[in-house]
Amino acid sequence: MDSAEQIVVRRSGPLEGQVTVPGAKNSVLKLMATTLLTDGVTTLTNVPDIADVAIMGDLLAAIGVSTAWHPTETRVLQLSNQGDITPVAPYELVERIRASINVLGPLLTRCGTVKLSLPGGDDFGSRPINMHLDGLRAMGATFAIRHGYVEASADRLWGADITLDFPSVGATENILTAAVYAKGTTTIDNAAREPEIGDLCNFLVAMGAEIEGIDSSKLVIHGVEVGSLRPVVHEVVPDRIQAATYVAAAAITGGTITLHNARPDHMEMLLRRFADMGLIVEPIQGGMTVSAPERLRSIDVATLPYPGIATDYKPLITTMLSVASGVGIVTENLYPGRFRYVEELQRLGANISTDGHHAVVRGVERLSGAQVRAPDIRAGAALVVAGLVADGETLISEICHIDRGYDDLVGRLRNLGADIERV
Ligand code: EPU
Repeated sequence: MDSAEQIVVRRSGPLEGQVTVPGAKNSVLKLMATTLLTDGVTTLTNVPDIADVAIMGDLLAAIGVSTAWHPTETRVLQLSNQGDITPVAPYELVERIRASINVLGPLLTRCGTVKLSLPGGDDFGSRPINMHLDGLRAMGATFAIRHGYVEASADRLWGADITLDFPSVGATENILTAAVYAKGTTTIDNAAREPEIGDLCNFLVAMGAEIEGIDSSKLVIHGVEVGSLRPVVHEVVPDRIQAATYVAAAAITGGTITLHNARPDHMEMLLRRFADMGLIVEPIQGGMTVSAPERLRSIDVATLPYPGIATDYKPLITTMLSVASGVGIVTENLYPGRFRYVEELQRLGANISTDGHHAVVRGVERLSGAQVRAPDIRAGAALVVAGLVADGETLISEICHIDRGYDDLVGRLRNLGADIERV
């Protein structure tokens, strides 16, 4: 990946056509980490070809699981675990990807010790792991923090009743993957319910784990014998955030598109709010069709854990509101610092003011193209969408962030009629 590359977008649309949505980054990375629990070759299908999958592959290779794309079938990834595991996750790899924290639960429950570089913050703020550690501690693990590493150990993990202070995605996943080999039953109350966690549960059950309450906020995990999970073939759930990106692109350009391999049932709240903005959404077999009005209407929106509006949708929504009629208020409830992309939207002529975790967006008629930079994955994609309705040319730099989570965003948008290229 060349960091000097940029994306150039020119005013386009209305977008028309069909797009196939890739598999979810925030599922596949966790499924990859979970292969640490089983010896043999696991096959994942519908895998997005994104930088984060390669980075997770590097981390797993350092620990002892090799990853390779299938030689003939596209988007199929094979992970081979021969049982020769070194439970150490070094700094150089962990700092590249937040989801590296997901090796903690599987390694601890399987090996009894783990040395993991402490994950740092993100561009949108500090990202603590206290709930991960508290949950695993309740199951019998002990932790020491030394020289920037978390050193965890547990002769054996035991089932425990754990109530999370907040339905954290990562904490739910780490406790869940640790609990499958714990002795006895673990309950996770106030568990996160994101569709990617449902995908992880279904993957584990196919491997032989015993889990009740899948997709609910109370997961009950009955531990099975250590080493008894079997490798499986599993299809990664479609990416609801990438799907929303194409919906936003159609919406902002007044277009009509059909999304395949999409799960509108995983995006219900968002699609309801998009309908309030004037979008017509029709579920079809395996996807949905969306048609946009000439101009979107403003709404107020607040981010919440699933089934609420995901924080990852917010840069897209803010971008849509930038050119909608009226005034919209966006409230961020997960990451207070996640408004940095607002300055970039302002460079494109958006009228947005922020105060703490609120942004007030006054819709303008048109944006105007400018040089901007992608501050993170989702904000980067939102700036690409903004460029579709900006006069002239919008140049987006630091697109390595976009490549972390988007599988050929440029190609897919171009197929829908966007005037866009990588330079
Ligand atoms: N939190 C704590 N303590 C913890 C864990 C979380 O205070 O031990 C707080 C966080 O600081 C944050 C909130 O809880 O304020 C939510 O964090 P959560 O653990 O749910 O998020 P995560 O697992 O770190 C995943 C996604 C993010 C997505 C969030 C929220 C992955 C790899 N990342 O992060 O996705 O924004 O859930 O839905 O799955 C992205 O894909 O670009 C991305 C940032």
